[in-house]
Amino acid sequence: MCGIVGYVGSRNGTSLLVDGLKRLEYRGYDSAGVSLMDGGGIETRKAKGKIAMLEAAIGSMPIQGNVGIAHTRWATHGPPNECNAHPHHDCSGTVSVVHNGIIENYGPLRAMLKKTGHTFVSDTDTEVLAHLIEAAFDDNLEEAVVDALALVEGTYGIAVICSRDPDKIVAARKGSPLLIGLGEGENYIASDVAAILQHTRHVVYLDDGEMAVVTRTGYRVMDLNAQTIKKRVNRIDWDLDKIEKGGYEHFMLKEIFEQPQTIQNTMRGRSVDEDGFSKLGGLNLSREELQHFDHIIITACGTSWHSALIGKMMIEEHARIRCEVEYASEFRYRNPIVSEKTLCIVISQSGETADTLAAMREAKRRGAKTLGLVNQVGSTIAREDDGGIYLHAGPEIGVASTKAFTSQVVALALLTLKLGRLRTMSVVQGRVVTQALEKLPEQIQNILDRAGEIEKIAAAFTDATNFLYLGRGFNFPVALEGALKLKEISYIHAEGYPAAEMKHGPIALIDADMPVVFIAPHDSVFDKVVSNVQEVKARGGRVIAITSRDEPSLDGKIDYEFRIPETIDMLNPVLSAIPLQLLAYYIAAKRGLNVDQPRNLAKSVTVE
Ligand code: G6P
Repeated sequence: MCGIVGYVGSRNGTSLLVDGLKRLEYRGYDSAGVSLMDGGGIETRKAKGKIAMLEAAIGSMPIQGNVGIAHTRWATHGPPNECNAHPHHDCSGTVSVVHNGIIENYGPLRAMLKKTGHTFVSDTDTEVLAHLIEAAFDDNLEEAVVDALALVEGTYGIAVICSRDPDKIVAARKGSPLLIGLGEGENYIASDVAAILQHTRHVVYLDDGEMAVVTRTGYRVMDLNAQTIKKRVNRIDWDLDKIEKGGYEHFMLKEIFEQPQTIQNTMRGRSVDEDGFSKLGGLNLSREELQHFDHIIITACGTSWHSALIGKMMIEEHARIRCEVEYASEFRYRNPIVSEKTLCIVISQSGETADTLAAMREAKRRGAKTLGLVNQVGSTIAREDDGGIYLHAGPEIGVASTKAFTSQVVALALLTLKLGRLRTMSVVQGRVVTQALEKLPEQIQNILDRAGEIEKIAAAFTDATNFLYLGRGFNFPVALEGALKLKEISYIHAEGYPAAEMKHGPIALIDADMPVVFIAPHDSVFDKVVSNVQEVKARGGRVIAITSRDEPSLDGKIDYEFRIPETIDMLNPVLSAIPLQLLAYYIAAKRGLNVDQPRNLAKSVTVE
């Protein structure tokens, strides 16, 4: 979703800011812009579409300056066009603002500002901020920002420059991530560390209710009452090559192929085979607390919600704790039953999804302990939860989540081991899980080595207009995830269903044009799935089956087959999801689509 970069130093900031925006492209956007303090005044260039269009605009009318802010916009208020792109200005053109989030009371504020003579040029909520700051400005930008924000309801991560107080960037955060990057004689602002990692590894994360004044030589963080807050400087320990394609055509393909390593990284030092146990140092919960919970709520969005469904099955089956899964967007506005015996697990790759963060805060407010399963180190959810399990899958750039999903399932398996072994799970049962976990990286490699088989299947379906994905038990959420991957990046309509539930509706859709993907490894419900395959075949559907061994009962019933290695039921999703990621990838790539940045989608959804 929207991205922010800011620079204050002595170099020309133009290309530095534009390069920073390019690092944020993966988050999804539809227009971009940059403002620089150019010899006393502020100069701004904006463009609809990709960063290349912004570069073209700068090319035809160059700007330079060593204090500046830049933005990629994902439209909320008003269509994506040059006028609505950020930065936004006040009437006199002395204030320039970039903003992530939503100003909820922008309507009344706009009306109030118009009455006092302010003129608006865009449809955005953000523009009111520029005018509010202009109206409040006396001789100091941070004071004007404080006064302006006092009138604002909603969420924001903002960066502001002002030609009347020119040597600084003022940034503020409420609900939208923002960090300060620390350099030598220069400093940065960014909504995502990827934008500035080229220049510095030292960052200070802002928390909600904080603002920062950033100059060439330093920074000051304070609350909205101007009280200084002492902040920790964090060191980022991953490298830039992690956010580069490394020879792959797309980030998504690279990330799919990284899974043997990313799974290993999620498990490293955590799975203890001799005791059939897991060590999870970040939970911050005592043995007694872990035994005390009798109710678990897992909440998440998108792909993370699918791994939550798998987690529920694992926990109920092996740890025998009642477990519910809720969409975060629904949970936050319900009146859910939460007690001090409730553990709320929140799952989020980015750690910034607005609904998931709000759901976690609501669960906390109601007295639940919260655990975050988060990939992005230092993200808001990771900082606000009571404890957690980092996925350690490394930066995920492709908008369609792949490696984070399999790491989430593995992290949930480790958590299940922990909870289960403190309850009814025997050491022998625990060892079955740890041993199966240890085999996963090699088994994933085996699948990836045969990616060409999936590519051939994909070639037969590039013109499909609908797809159905069916699975049972642990593979039902995989059916949902397979369908989501396909629709996200190929724009083919796809639905996931529990295989037997198909008879209650989707079966009406089946004809010779309907490809049906069955996730049918040899597990405890395999025989049941065979009957469902039969039902599809009898109606002329084209069957693609993900199986795990030679199955005579499927003879003559399937058109395409891909074999995955065998594992225990609860870990099947880690293996069965991978051919479905590849299938979606190859279909979308063959259709010539922008796999890494599908239309309308954002990597991290920081608005409700
Ligand atoms: C967006 C992304 C999805 C992701 C979902 C949840 O919709 O496009 O890929 O699954 O958000 O994101 P999170 O970062 O919370 O896992």
